[in-house]
Amino acid sequence: MHLSDLRACFSGRLLTGAEDTAAFLTDWRRRWSGRAIAVAQPDRAEDVAALVRWCAAQGVPIVPQGGNTGMSGASVPDASGRALLLSLARLNRVREVDPLNNTMTVEAGCLLHTVQERAREHGRLFPLSLAAEGSCTIGGNLSTNAGGVAVLRYGNARELCLGLEVVTAQGELWDGLRALRKDNTGYDLRDLFIGAEGTLGVITAATVKLHPLPAARVTAWAAVPTLSHAMRLLERAQNTLGARLTAFEALTPPCIEMLTEQLPQLRWPLAERGTDAVLIELSDPDDEASGRAALEGLLEHAFEAGWVSDAAIAANLTQSREFWSLREHMTEAQQRAGKNIKHDIAVPISRIAEFVEQTNAEIARHYPGVRMIVFGHLGDGNLHYNVSPPKRSTGEDFPQIESAINRLVHDAVHAFHGSVSAEHGLGVLRRDEAARYKSPVELRLMRAIKHALDPQNLMNPGKSLGDYPTEPAAEGAR
Ligand code: FAD
Ligand code: MLT
Ligand code: ZN
Repeated sequence: MHLSDLRACFSGRLLTGAEDTAAFLTDWRRRWSGRAIAVAQPDRAEDVAALVRWCAAQGVPIVPQGGNTGMSGASVPDASGRALLLSLARLNRVREVDPLNNTMTVEAGCLLHTVQERAREHGRLFPLSLAAEGSCTIGGNLSTNAGGVAVLRYGNARELCLGLEVVTAQGELWDGLRALRKDNTGYDLRDLFIGAEGTLGVITAATVKLHPLPAARVTAWAAVPTLSHAMRLLERAQNTLGARLTAFEALTPPCIEMLTEQLPQLRWPLAERGTDAVLIELSDPDDEASGRAALEGLLEHAFEAGWVSDAAIAANLTQSREFWSLREHMTEAQQRAGKNIKHDIAVPISRIAEFVEQTNAEIARHYPGVRMIVFGHLGDGNLHYNVSPPKRSTGEDFPQIESAINRLVHDAVHAFHGSVSAEHGLGVLRRDEAARYKSPVELRLMRAIKHALDPQNLMNPGKSLGDYPTEPAAEGAR
């Protein structure tokens, strides 16, 4: 296999020098680094197809990459140096916006922020929203089935996608860009590629759903004595605000302390920083005044009931951005703080407070002093249950205790009938963990799909579960 052969089938941008390729070969968290024969940056779907055909003929593995912001190590190759890194970043045109159909067709490398902006220019909302939106791509969002901070109202990436264009593992271009709300014509191929982490094919374009732009948004920050109180607040919010409730996010006290230490310039809405905090957002379809009144009513009731000890409603957009900035800087604060063990768990919403209380106690019993950095999408039952070393420790022993901590957290998740990856995907980080809790039948079905679509196992091998090599551990199976 020679790069000159590759050149013959692809005349677009091909990077081979160490300096040019370095940024593509290490993940956002700087935890995984690999090597590749080259980084290809096609800007046409036909070129993606030609590259995949060349890889299929040569037996070269392909690692698709969007913005390289993924959290599970799925977007970088292994150390063998055999793979081609296929960056979709230059395949980034907006092909069509159809405001009447409430759809937009965009190429895979479009930044999420660009998709949101283009929708807004047409008086529409593309609601997927996450702190990495300035760097992640719609192709990556769909391939990880990203969640983010508006799932409560609008659903995750899967629920926002109507159609896909995909290059199959054989290098054929499948035009599945249907802009239909109803389509029952056989197996749902689109849904197979969503959340597949590039292991079944390469997404080259997507038709996504747009929503009406809300007339106003109102944001509140509330201090709550415990997560159980937060859950009562959530239930009341759902009953009184209905579909207007857009976000219900939480930070626990160790997160607040870490943000204060690592990013002292951030502005806080309340003097009270020792309790759990929730960020509530309401998108009002009518007007700001009625939204504000509804949120005030909710918080008044919560004060009287003792579920909230202090609260502030953002007076304007600037203040609302300040509230959101606290929540959105959690990932950066942890990155600055040093070592941490990340989890991305989901349990039934009704049991999440109980889950956190029990798991915190269990971890504290085994590892006194470690800090549970628990935050995230409380309203979705999805928390980032992260574990950091004790204060004033650099966590030298963390790599050694990581699997034991994973076991404690994920066994608890399993006991609560939850998921070990709610929104970040499996990649290499959680592949073994997910396999441990899946039943043999589920793993067998996943392998059958992978084998049918990618019989040579060239699409992002070693990621997710389609090519998982062994039977799951007996004690993990349901
Ligand atoms: P990459 O990281 O480049 O790739 C991710 C996976 O998708 C890989 O398996 C890759 O092979 C595959 N892939 C990428 N493009 C394609 C394609 N076109 N075709 C086939 N496969 C492809 N995630 C959330 O869900 N919710 C959050 O709230 C959230 N917040 C974040 C905050 C920060 C600060 C950061 C850094 C990350 C956050 N993430 C979050 C994780 C990440 O942003 C998402 O997983 C995002 O969807 C990844 O998009 P990407 O373009 O960077 O994909
Ligand atoms: C978030 O919700 O902020 C993210 O998913 C990122 C993270 O887990 O750090
Ligand atoms: Zn998240």
